[in-house]
Amino acid sequence: MSLLSCLLNVLVCCVLGVTSVVSVGLLGFEKELSDVILTTALGKIRGTYLTSQAGKNFYAFRGIRYAKPPLGALRFKATSPIEQWNGIFDATLDGPMCPQPALNSSDVSEDCLRLNIYTKELPSESNLNVKRPVIVFIHPGGFYSLSGQSKNFAGPQYFMDRNIVLVTFNYRLGSLGFLSTGTKEAPGNAGFKDQVLLLRWIKIHISRFGGDPGSVTLLGYGAGATSVTLHLVSPMSKNLFHKVIVMSGSSTAQWRIPENQLALAQRQARLLLCPDINIEQMIECLKQKHYLEIANSQGNMFEFGRGNPVLLWKPVIEPKLGQDRFLIEDPVKSYQDGKFMKVPIITGLTKDEFVGPALNILENEELRNAFDNNFDKVAPVCFLYSGDLARSKNVSDELRKYYLGPGSLHPNRSLEGLANLFADSLTGFGVHRFVRLAARHTKVYYYLFSYQGQASHLYYPEDKPYGVVHHDDLLYLFVEPSVSRMFADDEEEYKVIETLTRMWTAFAYKGDPNKPNDEYLRNVRWRPFSFKKENYLEIGDELVMKEGLNLERYEVWKKLFPLHWIRRHSKNDGNNLDYPDAKDVLQ
Ligand SMILES: *[C@@H]1O[C@H](CO)[C@@H](O)[C@H](O)[C@H]1NC(C)=O
Ligand SMILES: *[C@@H]1O[C@H](CO)[C@@H](O)[C@H](O)[C@H]1NC(C)=O
Ligand SMILES: *[C@@H]1O[C@H](CO)[C@@H](O)[C@H](O)[C@H]1NC(C)=O
Repeated sequence: MSLLSCLLNVLVCCVLGVTSVVSVGLLGFEKELSDVILTTALGKIRGTYLTSQAGKNFYAFRGIRYAKPPLGALRFKATSPIEQWNGIFDATLDGPMCPQPALNSSDVSEDCLRLNIYTKELPSESNLNVKRPVIVFIHPGGFYSLSGQSKNFAGPQYFMDRNIVLVTFNYRLGSLGFLSTGTKEAPGNAGFKDQVLLLRWIKIHISRFGGDPGSVTLLGYGAGATSVTLHLVSPMSKNLFHKVIVMSGSSTAQWRIPENQLALAQRQARLLLCPDINIEQMIECLKQKHYLEIANSQGNMFEFGRGNPVLLWKPVIEPKLGQDRFLIEDPVKSYQDGKFMKVPIITGLTKDEFVGPALNILENEELRNAFDNNFDKVAPVCFLYSGDLARSKNVSDELRKYYLGPGSLHPNRSLEGLANLFADSLTGFGVHRFVRLAARHTKVYYYLFSYQGQASHLYYPEDKPYGVVHHDDLLYLFVEPSVSRMFADDEEEYKVIETLTRMWTAFAYKGDPNKPNDEYLRNVRWRPFSFKKENYLEIGDELVMKEGLNLERYEVWKKLFPLHWIRRHSKNDGNNLDYPDAKDVLQ
């Protein structure tokens, strides 16, 4: 709703449930916008105005609860939809992040299931039928960190120069979100079920904010991308969305999806001095702990260095315990059988992805030697495969031979190889396999993001970007104040922001990122992936169609983890698999 029409017609505004609260003053209302109150089926919400990169006002409703706070008995379990409230919910500021190690602990809370909605236009008397495509951002962070807050990671100022409604949100993280014992006390996947509740909330309420519940695009990054590849196969997420953008992550990699992670739950319990044999007592004790105690023990959950394995808590294939199950079989099997939502897909990754963990190891002599001398033990932890199968040593040997070559690790010369090994194990191979599994049934637009600007999430050596690492492409979709200021029109980066947000928006409208009459997009035709050409779009200084992304590297993984082997062992957690026959290994 335009503010002017609202001012001129207070009655209609009130009938529609929109009230603009403007400090009195006849001269220039643009300076005096303060907030806006919207009536929804759940209750009244007070929002505010923010300014887009190009300087236009848009509405922001932040920190809205979308589910019952997962407190007390609900800890480690699915929660339920939020109930109606009385009074006016104050949604003028970011809500708290979900518990995670944070500098300022007053910025995290267990009451963190909050969403943020950004929209340029609300339904009004002159246009009751505002219906824009909705983009829902599922944030990254390895299932144990980050959030959808606008002030840190997910600023909406670029997307609000496009005609979409943007939703960002938080889901439970770490042990609070994903602890799984295989029993009813903690069946697992709680964080994914939060995401499902969020999608159901959108389906019911987003039209009130000018969003089209019939056109919802999931945009997931990293752990969020992994989540999207699970929503595509989950019985709980069916028909809650219509297109997906899967950036730098997937559940279709070499790591297996277990039925529970009891051993990790026990590790968490021991860190907090809780009993670890009797599951009921263990969970009872963990429920008594303050959420900050649980969040702050996160750092001690890792097995090697500062953060390996990157994927600590995983999705689980839930046992039948009477609960709604988010995952009922291995997603690789679902994709192979064509049992997934066959919606249009954009997916891809950055040129360099995971250099950080490689640098951490190489720069620290002690860690480097520990890694080098115990490679058979450490490699499965860092590169996410099981370490205690008869064939594990062969897998480690093959990977070492291909990526690192002979001899011991060298602080400089080994960097590229080790970075590639992290990149391929944590994102590249999973995305590669996802493209091929999905493209047999639906359109997949595959990309490589290689544009290198001034800002990055990794500067090395010294103060220059190393390359284009994990999250660097997010700098052109969201304002991330902790990493970079907002880019201005006269900076080179602005062109990339325009290109990316326009392609993603065109895709949100019609499932196709091409828009030949758009000045930023008219010079390229992004063709969907075909098995014959193995084509992808390189998004760099220019947009260029290319063929065969990192094929030689991914061939190594395909040989070590052939699809039919994965399928045969898809119900196992990978800790007690049979030795696959030689045919399996070689195919
Ligand atoms: C911590 O966060 C709270 C809530 O966001 C804020 O009011 C406070 O100023 C912050 N404190 C510091 C030291 O940054
Ligand atoms: C791994 O096993 C295969 C099949 O047995 C064998 O051909 C290959 O040489 C082994 N790789 C290494 C590095 O030992
Ligand atoms: C490693 O590379 C960096 C950056 O290129 C350089 O500054 C440093 O001197 C090199 N160190 C060694 C031991 O080669």
